[in-house]
Amino acid sequence: MEKLTGLKKIRTAVFISGTGTNLKNLIKFSKLKKSPISINLIISNTNKAKGLKYADQFGIKKKIFNFLKNNDVEKNILAFLINHKISFICLAGFMKILSKNFIKKFNGKIINIHPSLLPKYKGLNTHKRAIKNLDKFTGCTVHYVTAKLDSGKIIMQIKIKIAAKDNTTSLTKKVLKKEHELYPAAIMKIFN
Ligand code: GRF
Repeated sequence: MEKLTGLKKIRTAVFISGTGTNLKNLIKFSKLKKSPISINLIISNTNKAKGLKYADQFGIKKKIFNFLKNNDVEKNILAFLINHKISFICLAGFMKILSKNFIKKFNGKIINIHPSLLPKYKGLNTHKRAIKNLDKFTGCTVHYVTAKLDSGKIIMQIKIKIAAKDNTTSLTKKVLKKEHELYPAAIMKIFN
């Protein structure tokens, strides 16, 4: 990944589908002088994503793309990203799988955060599975996005202890807190 030159930050889009706590955290991080990225676009596949409120709150452009009604949706997203001079994408709770073709267009420039110690527990319900398997540890991972779900090169991970009294709710909370440390740290690692 290219080194930062001067003060220009890398124009970044964050893709969300839900609550957007990682989005909010990334926006706050992006405003720090040390941040290599600026958040210039928020993309969602649904207008129900609670995190969209942060677009208004922080004055960032948002756009919803309907994946169900539109065969050309990825083409439209790509055009929109190019139009807004976006060169980096952070997925943060984005619940749609991007095609090989889309990923190729942003080769090595899309990253994702996942609530498990990848390669363990790709996909959904990671905390439920970790508890069911009586795992002693879980964690979160930031990785490059490839055409294979949750399988791209790992950038950074944080390991978190699972307490005997943990349930999916407590674990989700615990892991999310660490995700908010990890995502900015992984971005710093990529660009510095
Ligand atoms: C996080 O747990 C993230 O790891 C996963 O989806 C969740 C999104 O949470 N990919 P939020 O919307 O950022 O609060």
